[in-house]
Amino acid sequence: MKKREGNRLPDTVALDEERNALVIIDQTALPGELKLLSLTTLEEFIDAIKTLKVRGAPAIGVAAAMGLYLAVKRSGMERLGEVKAALAASRPTAVNLFWALDRMEQAALACPDAPLEALRLEALRIRDEDIQACRAIGEHGLALLLENRHKEGALSLLTHCNAGSLAAVRIGTALAPVYAGLERGYRFKVYAGETRPLLQGARLTAFELMAAGVDTTLICDNMASIVMQKGMVQAVLTGADRIAANGDVCNKVGTSGLAVLAKHYGIPFYVCAPMSTVDFQSVAGEDILIEERDGQEVTEMWFGKRMAPKGVNIFNPAFDVTPHTLVTAIVTERGVLRPPYAKSLTP
Ligand code: MRU
Repeated sequence: MKKREGNRLPDTVALDEERNALVIIDQTALPGELKLLSLTTLEEFIDAIKTLKVRGAPAIGVAAAMGLYLAVKRSGMERLGEVKAALAASRPTAVNLFWALDRMEQAALACPDAPLEALRLEALRIRDEDIQACRAIGEHGLALLLENRHKEGALSLLTHCNAGSLAAVRIGTALAPVYAGLERGYRFKVYAGETRPLLQGARLTAFELMAAGVDTTLICDNMASIVMQKGMVQAVLTGADRIAANGDVCNKVGTSGLAVLAKHYGIPFYVCAPMSTVDFQSVAGEDILIEERDGQEVTEMWFGKRMAPKGVNIFNPAFDVTPHTLVTAIVTERGVLRPPYAKSLTP
């Protein structure tokens, strides 16, 4: 069978130790251009996270860890707290950001004789763990899809936003089962929701799946119901930005609507995420702070002309919460977790 290493894109986030740089794929340039950015200052790291040049919960965590190491190396260990706070203020919802920054700080504190080296090693460990966790999610997720397969031929899936290789270091979370399956010769047909307003599905998921040779169909977000109603998908797979202790899943806005539809049509709704995305401090979804972004993303971006009247009120939440009751299973590196999540999700 043909062996394939993901979609052969470069790592989404990397540390260039020779140049003291954080190297990222500029996700705002996709799908037009596959451009690598080499960032060296704290301001550049923060801007990259804020403007979604690097985005997706696991990738944000790895970028923040590497960024913290590089910024402290440049400005001195005494600025660790300040650098950490500045990076933590870049985006509010993906818990991987805060998880990675806390881990970095703990690593430096635990090694007072060589704190900078401890930061370097911890950043690399966080990257390596992401690669391993996504690989394990891919294996567990693939097994789950094969268990529930009800017909031969391509496995047909629906996904939202981008929880693929561009959202982590290598193969991503929700798309990891697809990449694991491709390596074994399975065929997939993936419906990618375009994901208004920032079009992560259209720009990023469609791009990376096509780069991997996957049969990819782009749909507008409001077409998910007809796709499910017509029996065109066997499962919905999404990632997560933060999972509360009770299993409520905060992910890209629109995810909860897909979960409601999936329940209605009797289609399994799977969430794929590393344990670093589970926030045991958030008891339930209502404890999670949902980012609200500039209304201009809704009224003016992506089209040649402004596409809404000036002065119209805008509500632009970047994420929503899917109640745990709508989640069929959560796939982590530990395996497939089933309800009740308050029991199956353990620190
Ligand atoms: O605003 P974004 O593009 O950072 O939102 C990303 C998502 O919602 C992803 O689905 C989530 O981070 C999971 S990524 C493996």
